[in-house]
Amino acid sequence: ELGDYAHFMEKEIFEQPQALENAMRGRFAEDGSTANFGGLNLSANELRATSRLMFCACGTAMFAGLVTEHLVERFARIPVECDHASEFRYRNTPLFSNTLFFVISQSGETIDTLAAMREAQRKGFKVLAINNVVGSTIAREADGGIYQHAGPEIGVASTKAFTSQLMIGAMLALYLGRIRDMSFRDGVEIVKALKAAPDLVREALQQADHIKQIAQRYAQVSDMLFLGRLELFPIAAEGALKLKEISYIHAEAYPAAEMKHGPIALINADCPSVFLVPNNELFNKVVSSMQEIKARGGPIIAITTDDADLPEGLADDVITIPACHEAVLPIVATIPLQLFSYYVAVERGCDVDKPRNLAKSVTVE
Ligand code: BG6
Repeated sequence: ELGDYAHFMEKEIFEQPQALENAMRGRFAEDGSTANFGGLNLSANELRATSRLMFCACGTAMFAGLVTEHLVERFARIPVECDHASEFRYRNTPLFSNTLFFVISQSGETIDTLAAMREAQRKGFKVLAINNVVGSTIAREADGGIYQHAGPEIGVASTKAFTSQLMIGAMLALYLGRIRDMSFRDGVEIVKALKAAPDLVREALQQADHIKQIAQRYAQVSDMLFLGRLELFPIAAEGALKLKEISYIHAEAYPAAEMKHGPIALINADCPSVFLVPNNELFNKVVSSMQEIKARGGPIIAITTDDADLPEGLADDVITIPACHEAVLPIVATIPLQLFSYYVAVERGCDVDKPRNLAKSVTVE
């Protein structure tokens, strides 16, 4: 089953272009300006009346919710909240009646996510599920949902299921946007951008050997920081989680500008930082944060877009990804982070597909 790959995680990283195609297949409207989901079981009217979205999930799936929060708020101007399912189930948060409630779960068996869903249903809300495993408990108990069609994910650390959730989140943001005030023209632009995602991911995957060499040089560190802003902050958090899960290196993520409010105290030559620094409206701000880290002797790995002009010598290592639309950037920026943690873990001799203390789906509280 592994073919030419050494681990399922590696195989699943390289399967992402296909998983993204599968998430999109048959889901764009004929006019090319929006997405459609057959399984939501909600009318355009009900969706139009939505005044708030809530996402509950665990682990990697929650980071997909946090990215989706940015895109839905930007494209559809609907306020979104995203919570750890394990917290939501006990915190008794007030929910407005026209809140649209989503859970996100690859396996559809995670008990905390299932409990959050049941709690929302108990309060009378319809719950929609973004889920990969067809016929899972969450899929069966949900009032509607969106299947990911990413194919089986065997590696415990989620890879293709995550980027597939990001794709569905972006399509959902587009769909909700078009129900509201997003123009035909903007919708067409986003559809084109999403359709380009598989090729952009293929391009990012071509950096594998370069990333492997970098990973081998950092494999023996004990602490790392992952820094990004806006929709790339949850991607930084996912990068840190991936590294923790499979290589057992302590890693933390912060919105880059938060470093000065405490975490910068950690910086020294033994604590490298991975910066997500695309050419966007915050490019210069992130560059300033990088300069602050460099001034304190912290090694820097920069993940940047090929249209950006990073100051010479600022980063010790640079990984370039193709410039792309903001709806797709979180997906493309995830690729080097997955490859980095994978190669670090392999270099350290870790059991990549079955990390210690972890299970693919956690069915106990
Ligand atoms: C965790 C896994 O226990 O469950 C994570 O280690 C995963 O990798 C999380 O993201 C949520 O899983 P699921 O199946 O609900 O998406």
